[in-house]
Amino acid sequence: MNAADQPAAPEPHVMKTYGRLPMALSHGRGCWVWDTDGKKYLDGLAGIAVNTLGHAHPRLVPALQEQVGRLIHTSNYYAAPLQEKLAAKLCELSGLTGVFFCNSGLEANEAAIKIARKFGHDKGIARPEIVVYEKAFHGRSIATLSATGNPKVQVGFEPLVEGFVRVPLNDTAAIEKVAKTNPNVVAVFLEVIQGEGGINPASADYLREIRRICDQRGWLLMLDEVQCGIGRTGKWFAHQWAGIKPDVMPLAKGLGSGVPIGAVVCGPRAANVLGQGNHGTTFGGNPLAMRAGIETLTIMEEDALLDNAAQIGQWLADAFRRELIDIRGFVEVRGQGLMIGIELDRPCTDLLLRAAHAGLMISVTADRVVRLLPPLILNAAEAEQIVAILVPLIKDFLSSSPAPSSKP
Ligand SMILES: Cc1ncc(COP(=O)(O)O)c(C=O)c1O
Repeated sequence: MNAADQPAAPEPHVMKTYGRLPMALSHGRGCWVWDTDGKKYLDGLAGIAVNTLGHAHPRLVPALQEQVGRLIHTSNYYAAPLQEKLAAKLCELSGLTGVFFCNSGLEANEAAIKIARKFGHDKGIARPEIVVYEKAFHGRSIATLSATGNPKVQVGFEPLVEGFVRVPLNDTAAIEKVAKTNPNVVAVFLEVIQGEGGINPASADYLREIRRICDQRGWLLMLDEVQCGIGRTGKWFAHQWAGIKPDVMPLAKGLGSGVPIGAVVCGPRAANVLGQGNHGTTFGGNPLAMRAGIETLTIMEEDALLDNAAQIGQWLADAFRRELIDIRGFVEVRGQGLMIGIELDRPCTDLLLRAAHAGLMISVTADRVVRLLPPLILNAAEAEQIVAILVPLIKDFLSSSPAPSSKP
């Protein structure tokens, strides 16, 4: 190749893996964020269910500052008292018994998949399989995108990881059929409320039924609470509404209130499956992330944020139903607590920019579902403002965009 054939030296850039809105955010306080032009936004997204305590929380910030000045990172070569403290708290809140710490949701799910496979191998199943769900989202590593039930996430990355059997959500007959026909199944893996898939809840009856099937068959019940856990639905973990316990529960997002963290929390059947040398991570469980997790859970308890999420979330869902019920193009409101999806009958990603112009941060998922995941500190006045901004935007959008049936 001569010099003329060389591609021009590219400009340094961040790779374009995201469709980004144009505003650059500068700072935040509580449920409010400001951009670099000084424009103010009400945060209805919390960094996708991450900023549990909002921004610049007056008790979290000094605790993290103190920790940064003391110790950010060591390694998992050494005893880790902050890991022990956070693990004890997560076990107390969940009724489970063992925790592995990592750095993100997909890492927690990777650990869960490894636990399921090793659990199978330990039982003599050489090719263990895991039941996963249509419309599920578990992350973007090769194994977790293979478990994900969205072809858009998978295309271009084949070959996918094998060992997953897919079923529809809330369909007991489908899972009974798998149970009867597939002797290699070792685990059932699902989100209690599918987040990226469009805020689709697993019903309490379905969760109880799969708990029963897992017990009967000796399978692990693995509940991905990366998005719906940590108080978002008004209980510590969304499955607690159904009165069941999982064997494996991946967590991340809201646990560190913005500091990257992941955890896989296990019950007695799963907590000893991984032994020394089976799994590890350099950053996982570092003192800064552990301190963020401990402080987040402490402040949530002190400020009764579970009750707040339940009450304000119920008020928001009722308000959206009341305001939108007669509007053509509105389908339904789904979710629990401060995990709310408003389904429309047509793709509505245009609403992202319209909401940003109106001073509100939201998300749109599964093309047609407006999603709200605000900080759990959201107060009644802020909830009223979300409704006051979003309802007219949705009405205006529905009246000015073509209904699905009128498409050519
Ligand atoms: C339910 C669920 N699991 C896993 C993930 C992946 O988490 P992360 O982006 O931290 O890897 C997400 C992210 O949206 C999620 O919603």
